[in-house]
Amino acid sequence: MSCGPKRALAQAISPTPTLTCVASLIELVRAHTDLDPEDVAWLQLLQADWQIIADLSFADLILWLPDRAGAGFWAGGQMRPTTGPTAYVDDIVGTFVPTGRRPHLDIAYAEGRLVREGDPEWRDDVPVRAETIPVRRGQRVIAVVGRNTNLLGVRTPSRLELSYLQTAADLTQMIAGGHFPVPGQRSDHADTPRVGDGFLRVDEQGRVVYASPNALSVYRRLGHSGDLDGLRLSEVTRELVPTRLRPDEEALSAVLGGRANRDAEIGAGSVSLIVRAIPLRPHGRLIGALVLVRDVTDLRRRDRELVTKDATIREIHHRVKNNLQTVAALLRLQARRMDSPDAKAALEEAVRRVGSIAIVHEILSQAVEGSVAFDDVADRLGGMVADVGSLGGRLRVRREGSFGELPSETATTVAMVLTELLQNAVEHGYPGLDEAGGTILVTAARPAGRLVFTIDDDGQGLPPGFDLEGSSTLGLSIVGTLVESELGGRLTLGPAPSGRGTRAEIDVPLS
Ligand SMILES: Nc1ncnc2c1ncn2[C@@H]1O[C@H](COP(=O)(O)OP(=O)(O)OP(=O)(O)O)[C@@H](O)[C@H]1O
Ligand SMILES: [Mg+2]
Repeated sequence: MSCGPKRALAQAISPTPTLTCVASLIELVRAHTDLDPEDVAWLQLLQADWQIIADLSFADLILWLPDRAGAGFWAGGQMRPTTGPTAYVDDIVGTFVPTGRRPHLDIAYAEGRLVREGDPEWRDDVPVRAETIPVRRGQRVIAVVGRNTNLLGVRTPSRLELSYLQTAADLTQMIAGGHFPVPGQRSDHADTPRVGDGFLRVDEQGRVVYASPNALSVYRRLGHSGDLDGLRLSEVTRELVPTRLRPDEEALSAVLGGRANRDAEIGAGSVSLIVRAIPLRPHGRLIGALVLVRDVTDLRRRDRELVTKDATIREIHHRVKNNLQTVAALLRLQARRMDSPDAKAALEEAVRRVGSIAIVHEILSQAVEGSVAFDDVADRLGGMVADVGSLGGRLRVRREGSFGELPSETATTVAMVLTELLQNAVEHGYPGLDEAGGTILVTAARPAGRLVFTIDDDGQGLPPGFDLEGSSTLGLSIVGTLVESELGGRLTLGPAPSGRGTRAEIDVPLS
């Protein structure tokens, strides 16, 4: 894969400056080659796993596509090793090599055999050993892979390096023989193990021939002490992991026995790992397998925390908000079709009620904890109410003081109460539409353990003989119920202290 996350990682660890993705494999195939869709699928399958081969080889891999007219090869993909230095500082994808310039490409393609050059080439002051691997699908060679090792990175081989290189040799042999890639049952998650996460080589019986230090650490975390050499990986794992936390018996022995090209996730109480096997058949016959293991405990724990705590809750608020907005839109549509002004007004009021709840859910969908900085909500509600109807523009809603942080349930209720009271101020305080306008003032304070807020208008004031207890209209009933039953607080309604207009005051305890 020359583009995407793998590439980003390869870039991050290589000393290469920023690269751009020149062209995709499919575009290059279409433009320059005669390869058919099945060939392309085969090459893509190869690219899905060639990071493993690059890492095991400590080498760069380049996929060369044969030109339609036989004039040479096009570079269709590039993979850098994460285990060693790159041999290519530049991006190769999209470049063309004419026949004759790199004879080993021509030979590998024409004769269908691995070609290794004797002497290293020097490229940009870097000694590079180049090898070419024919990619066989069925009876045909459909492309070649160049494997180029930056010899500056080559160290005296240890057991680890020899095991890596031997496994890489088996895999390249399989590519040349048409036995790799292998279509397999792989979950295509981003957590798939890499060579550096933990590498094991098992024989055809599933017995460990070599385990890298990282692989041993993973098994130590599972509870295994000592070496793994000579042990059957499936048996060791079966003893360490309770039945309910591991895949079924068939999957377990297929993956850990190295008999199937697939992966599996295994959990052992507090430890989770992903295991991936690639059976090795360099000459067609199974000689063992490469098994990669990765400890994903931290990843899984973070996943779980994220899902339970934050993401799900926020997603739900988001959906509720969307649904409420849909409801509001439907009501608005219906209001427009009404002939009766009363019915129209009632529906428009319903639109605002629903809209105010939607605003709270929108804020909650962005909130990190289960609480909301309510000033933002209050200001948006004020804006929404002031905007409405023919009064729009001549009424101002101002806030003094701060509501502070409110728990999400309280926030929803307070938002509804505030909407109703603002609504009343607009509707009943300023009935004469051509008046000079007015100012609605919202004040909020948080004395210890309480929230106290007021809504003052400078309008015409309450009607004579108004009695809050005796009123049975919908708006104030909603407010009364919410304040008293839901919030356990108190609502008062009376003349504003300024001497003009009305004040509504709400006082609620906060736990
Ligand atoms: N800020 C205010 N200024 C003047 N009168 C008000 C104010 N707030 C409430 N009132 C009076 O109280 C009455 C009852 O208000 P309430 O909100 O319960 O009903 P409504 O606004 O008439 O109808 P709705 O149920 O649609 O809200 C209003 O009709 C109005 O006469
Ligand atoms: Mg009202």
